[in-house]
Amino acid sequence: MNILVTGGAGFIGSNFIRYILQNYLEDSVVNFDKLTYAGNLENLQEFKDDKRYSFIKGDVCDYDAVAGASQGVDAVVHFAAESHVDRSIHASHEFIRTNVFGTQVVIDAVRELGIKKMILVSTDEVYGDVEKPRKSKDGDPFKPSSPYSASKAAAESLAIAAIRTHEAPIMITRSTNNYGPYQFPEKILPLFITNVLEDKKVPLYDGGTQIRDWLYVEDNCSAIDLVLRHGTLGEAYDIAAENDPEVTNREVTEMVLDILGKGRDFIQDVWGLRPGHDQRYAVDSSKIRALGWKPSVSLAEGLKQTVTWYQGNEGWWKRVKSGEYQEYYKKQYRV
Ligand code: NAD
Ligand code: DAU
Repeated sequence: MNILVTGGAGFIGSNFIRYILQNYLEDSVVNFDKLTYAGNLENLQEFKDDKRYSFIKGDVCDYDAVAGASQGVDAVVHFAAESHVDRSIHASHEFIRTNVFGTQVVIDAVRELGIKKMILVSTDEVYGDVEKPRKSKDGDPFKPSSPYSASKAAAESLAIAAIRTHEAPIMITRSTNNYGPYQFPEKILPLFITNVLEDKKVPLYDGGTQIRDWLYVEDNCSAIDLVLRHGTLGEAYDIAAENDPEVTNREVTEMVLDILGKGRDFIQDVWGLRPGHDQRYAVDSSKIRALGWKPSVSLAEGLKQTVTWYQGNEGWWKRVKSGEYQEYYKKQYRV
């Protein structure tokens, strides 16, 4: 299969490309990415001379560029997005441009070029937060809380409309929070791990009682790959580890501190930095499990592997944390 991956220089996209190139020797991948602050070609350096891999710098909002990159591909996996909730609260318009308009452009290119399959990579956040013990499931109404999740819900609406109106060959995946190698250190786990490695405190929001269902990134990649090859066109699949017991942000922070051999005094409680903060995400992943998927990495093991990766790749995250990120950090954390 020849696959166009949008946003392949980001966290999940680069892990997905690695997954494909390592597991399917006959497949090839075109990585189409604008290289925003979150895009980093270093993530895929080991493939730069691989004939099965190519990179095109471009914006998903540019129809001609997307259509040009899509020539001859069998499938499009659309990851490209502005992905950070906190940034969407500071400045929303880029989220609407890329996540909504950009998704329509990709859908149009897929239809007009007659590409056989497209996956829209969406998020469990479209459902909004859900009270214990309920889990959100496919078919539930969307109740997004942040400009980010609203933009992803809008993108899904465009996909659903294209499926209904044009029989566009689209499938949707909605995963819970991913973690693992190459995640930009603005998200809680890589931020906290790298802060501790720099001997800095970790800013835990709003009491740390919130619940996220942590999924190791490679497990999300295997689920997206399964949908790509065996999913039903027009369907949406919720992807979750369904960690049992559920873990709060404070508990996952303590797990990280324990792995790093650090005390609870590294936690700095901060309040009010994320207005509209969702309390709990939980989704029912029975539909993707019925296709034969299950996660293979436990949270305890995945966190150890992730910490080890950041310890061993200091050059990567130090470069990422310099420059623009420092300005963002001062603004977000008021330091
Ligand atoms: P990321 O921010 O690490 O990467 C996004 C990538 O998209 C970057 O390489 C960036 O350069 C590229 N990009 C941004 N705007 C672009 C544009 N206009 N044109 C082309 N490329 C552009 O994001 P991520 O965490 O890897 O998330 C990837 C996708 O998965 C997103 O759609 C996100 O909504 C979704 N998702 C993420 C998670 C998570 O936990 N990280 C969970 C569920 C769903
Ligand atoms: O649920 C899937 C979503 O997960 C994806 O769609 C998003 O792209 C991805 O960014 C992620 O969103 P979250 O908002 O859940 O991730 P984040 O790492 O930003 O925050 C996770 C939790 O940690 C949340 O409750 C806020 C809290 N937090 C976050 C940061 C950055 C802190 O306590 N301190 C922090 O500094």
